[in-house]
Amino acid sequence: MLKIAIFNQKAGVGSTTTALNLAAAIQRKKRQVALLDMDPQARLTEIYKHTGLDTQQHLFKFYQDATPLDSLCQPLRNGLQLIAASAELMKVDSQFGRGPATLNKLGQGLATLAAAQPSLQVLMDCCPYLGVISLSAVFASDLVLIPVSTDYLSIHSAVKMDKALNALQPVLKQKIQRRYLLTRADKRKAMTAEVEQEMRRLFGNEVLMSKIYEHAALTESARMGQHVFEYDADSAAAQDYMALFYELQDVSKQLPRAELLAA
Ligand SMILES: Nc1ncnc2c1ncn2[C@@H]1O[C@H](COP(=O)(O)OP(=O)(O)OP(=O)(O)O)[C@@H](O)[C@H]1O
Ligand SMILES: [Mg+2]
Repeated sequence: MLKIAIFNQKAGVGSTTTALNLAAAIQRKKRQVALLDMDPQARLTEIYKHTGLDTQQHLFKFYQDATPLDSLCQPLRNGLQLIAASAELMKVDSQFGRGPATLNKLGQGLATLAAAQPSLQVLMDCCPYLGVISLSAVFASDLVLIPVSTDYLSIHSAVKMDKALNALQPVLKQKIQRRYLLTRADKRKAMTAEVEQEMRRLFGNEVLMSKIYEHAALTESARMGQHVFEYDADSAAAQDYMALFYELQDVSKQLPRAELLAA
């Protein structure tokens, strides 16, 4: 099981869009994928709310009464699995504390899930806030994927993320593997090239070569309760996410603890 936390402390950078469409790209390569909606705002869950999803079965139950993650995984019509989120996720730290027991619980739950579904890949869609839930996702992950939208403020948020992850490394006693994904890129805008250049100067080969360009299909597909491969498998947006999958497949070969993204 490869576990990727998709996380940036800056909101609106394309984290949820990336979680959904990367999951779809992985699935097209015949791998089972579970999406964990770890955002109390439940934007990912929202996309599938009208497709018969049982919104009473959500991640908070794993914290509240130790419901196994396996039984919270709901199959979607498109073959992906989703563990839904709810606003109650905001209460995890006030109810269960911020100590190691809470922080490590998700990793333990995922280990049990991996035993039940060994070939499952897990993508965790985090909220833009470094609280207990996002920390748990980082702790449980093999790789943190940091979407960075190509505007100047995003460089600042990437530096902030880098510092936050570095500060966590002594706690975890290992390097937190991370890759930056440039999103909402636009070939016509000088800003895209400038942000990319600065990101590569700051973070070198931690910045992925794949970029996600600005595509109306990404907004439109989500509005229709679909990922972009369902909406238009030949679209440029689908191609961007397929290229991201292939690059992450190579990245997964370099990760110490992780299984390969695909055979
Ligand atoms: N590459 C893109 N091209 C066009 N629209 C995009 C792209 N990426 C994201 N969007 C749109 O931008 C909005 C925010 O995207 P998304 O919800 O994925 O961001 P987020 O980082 O998860 O936000 P939040 O921090 O609120 O969870 C959505 O309406 C989405 O459809
Ligand atoms: Mg989101």
